[in-house]
Amino acid sequence: MKKAPLELTLRTEKIVHGGQALARHDRFVVFVDDALPNETVRARVYKKKKNFAFARAIEVLEPAPERIPSDCPWTGDCGGCTFRHCAYPAQLRFKKEVLREALHAIPGASELIADLVPAEETNDYRNKMEFTFGATPAGELRLGLHRRGSFMHIVPADTCWLQSAASRELVTRMLALAKRLNLPAFHEIKKTHGLRQLTIREARGTGQRLVELITTISPPGLQEQFLATVEDLADTAYFSLNTQLHGPPRPDQRTLLKGPGHIEETLNGLRFRIGPDTFFQSNTAQAEKLFARLRELATRAGRPALALDLYAGTGPIALHLAAVADRVIAVESWEPSVAAARENLTLNNITNVDIISADVNQALPPGIPPAVDLVVVDPPRPGLALAAIDWITRLAPQEILYVSCNPSTLARDLALFMAAPYHLETVEPYDLFPHTYHLETLALLRRKN
Ligand SMILES: C[S@@+](CC[C@H](N)C(=O)[O-])C[C@H]1O[C@@H](n2cnc3c(N)ncnc32)[C@H](O)[C@@H]1O
Repeated sequence: MKKAPLELTLRTEKIVHGGQALARHDRFVVFVDDALPNETVRARVYKKKKNFAFARAIEVLEPAPERIPSDCPWTGDCGGCTFRHCAYPAQLRFKKEVLREALHAIPGASELIADLVPAEETNDYRNKMEFTFGATPAGELRLGLHRRGSFMHIVPADTCWLQSAASRELVTRMLALAKRLNLPAFHEIKKTHGLRQLTIREARGTGQRLVELITTISPPGLQEQFLATVEDLADTAYFSLNTQLHGPPRPDQRTLLKGPGHIEETLNGLRFRIGPDTFFQSNTAQAEKLFARLRELATRAGRPALALDLYAGTGPIALHLAAVADRVIAVESWEPSVAAARENLTLNNITNVDIISADVNQALPPGIPPAVDLVVVDPPRPGLALAAIDWITRLAPQEILYVSCNPSTLARDLALFMAAPYHLETVEPYDLFPHTYHLETLALLRRKN
C-alpha cells in the first residue's frame, strides 16, 4: 500500500532564497512552499533528505499579517510566481533579508544594503513570455506556464497578470485556434509531434510586439490561420519549425510571416533591436532604473578613460557607459548577442565602444589594454569563474561594479575581490521580478590604495 504523505504542523521563521519559508521540526529544517515568516501552517512533505525536507503549506492555521488573498487561481500550482499571497512591501523586505543573509560574512555589507528599489508596476511588467503547449491528464489542450517543479504539466495562462492584456488575448486566441483545428501538443516525454511554444515579446518603449509559434508540425493552412489569429496584435510574426525533438524548443527553420523580423525597445533613450532569440532584460522599466544608476556610479571616481563591460549580452551596459567613459570594451561569448550588440551600436551611432567575442571565464581576452579604470560584470547565475576574478584583479581597476542575479554567488565573488584588496562601497538591490523570489543587486567596489 502506498504510504500516506507526511503532514506536519510548523511554525515558520524566515524566507530563504528560492522563496520558501524556513521552519524547524525536531532536527529537521523544512523549506515550506506557499508560507510566509511567522505563520503556523499544516504542511505536506514532498521531498525528504537526511537533514532537511521540502513541504508545501496546505492549510494556514495562523496567518502572517503580510498574507493577502491571491488574485490568481493558479497560485501555488504555477511555477511563475512565488509571492502572490504576500503584500508587495513585505515581498521587498523579505528579499532584502535574503540578501542580508547571503552577505552576512562580508564585512560591512549588512549596514550597506539599501532597501530594494521597488517596481511601480507589479503586474504586466514582463516584456517577454514563453508559453508552452501541453495537455491535462484527461487530454484537454492547454497553453500556459509550467507547473511548479514540472517540465511536463502546464497551467493555463489566460489569467496570468505578469503579462499585458494583449498578451493574454493572444494566448486565448492561440489556444482556441489549436483546439478548433484539433492540433496536439508536443509531448515532452513520449516525444510525439505537436505544437510546442508561443513566444510573445513586447517592447515597452515603442509598443511593438513580436509573436512566434514554435511547432514540430506544419499541417496545410496552419501558417495562414496562425497569422490571421495574431496579425492585428503582432508587428512581427514568425512561424517556426523545430525538427529536433530532444532538448529545448529551438527552431531550426523560421518563416517570417509579418514585419521586419525584430522589434525595437528603448532603455533611457537608447535603442535596442530585439529578435526572437535576442537576450534582453525582461523588465524594461526596472532595467532603466538599474542601468541609469550604474551609469551614475561609474563616474563616482571621475570619468573613466577605459571601462570594461563583461558578460555584455546585447550591450545595454556598454551603451549606457559610452556616454560617460572615453572608451568602452564589451566582452560577450554568445555570437548572436555579439552580433546584436554591434547592431545596437550602429543603431545608436555610438563609436567609442568595441565588442569582443570571447569567453570571460578563460584568460584575459585579447585586445584589452593593461590600464583599465572601471570593470562592470553582469554574469549569469553561477557568478564569476576564478580565472575571471584573477585577471580582473590583475588589471587593478579603480572600481568594479557588480550586477548580480544570485545573492550566494555574489557573496562568494565579493569576498574574493575584497581580498584583492577592494573595499565595498554600495549594495543596492532592485526588484525586477515582483511576486517572484528573484532579485538583482548592484554592488560597487573600490580599490584600496
Ligand atoms: C545576465 S546576462 C547579462 C547581459 C547584459 N549585461 C544585459 O543586461 O542584458 C549574462 C550574459 O553573459 C553571457 N555569458 C555567459 N557566460 C559567459 C562567458 N563565459 N564569457 C562571456 N560571456 C558570457 C551570456 O551569454 C549573457 O549574455
